[in-house]
Amino acid sequence: MDAQCLLNQLVAEGYPATFSMDEFSRINSYAGKLRYADAHLTKLASGSGRTVYQIDNEKVLKIAKNGKGVAQNQIEAEPFLQKYDLTARVFESDSRGLYLEMELAKKVGRKRFEQLTGVTIEDLADYLRYENQRHQVRACAFCVNHSPEFIAKMSNNEFVGSLSSLNADYDFKTGDEGRLSTWGEVLRDGQPTIVLVDFGLTTSVYDQFYHVELK
Ligand SMILES: Nc1ncnc2c1ncn2[C@@H]1O[C@H](COP(=O)(O)OP(=O)(O)O)[C@@H](O)[C@H]1O
Ligand SMILES: [Mg+2]
Repeated sequence: MDAQCLLNQLVAEGYPATFSMDEFSRINSYAGKLRYADAHLTKLASGSGRTVYQIDNEKVLKIAKNGKGVAQNQIEAEPFLQKYDLTARVFESDSRGLYLEMELAKKVGRKRFEQLTGVTIEDLADYLRYENQRHQVRACAFCVNHSPEFIAKMSNNEFVGSLSSLNADYDFKTGDEGRLSTWGEVLRDGQPTIVLVDFGLTTSVYDQFYHVELK
């Protein structure tokens, strides 16, 4: 590797020189941390609980902007979830859930999603709804009746099978898994692979932060 190449690699990896992790971690408010990140990193996207910034070509920084974000960062940082092929890798995490560093994943379009998984995002969303309904005790007036062929096709798909086990193991709320923005593409052992980039919403986090009781 020549000197320029080495320099490029050094520049391409890790936080930009103007970003100080020491300074960032000492900031004691959601808004303050977000302001600091806004000034030193490139913002990629924002959800209901986290804002996501690019660190370098391989990593993002997910910063909590409220209690919802803290709770989801804490779930995503659980070491056991790192044993699943379907989750994005988490490299570092704050013990209080205020931020974490995650593998940068490429956005996927509808076509790419189907290429990588063997199912369309719409069919996945439909199947996840069917799985939720199946576990409901009461009969549901609005439930869709899926054909046995559809159910067989989906449940025999390897990706869908792995996702269903992960969902059952962690009691995940699956609504967002039927949206492309919840997924990303990474390389695993050199192979393009689809992974979840948003996997912090367990039923207990949902009940605590998102569920609104109707009066
Ligand atoms: N590891 C990642 N790589 C690339 N983009 C990501 C990554 N994690 C999240 N994002 C993007 O940021 C958006 C918001 O992050 P998300 O985890 O969904 O936050 P929230 O849980 O607050 O909704 C996602 O929809 C996705 O588009
Ligand atoms: Mg989200």
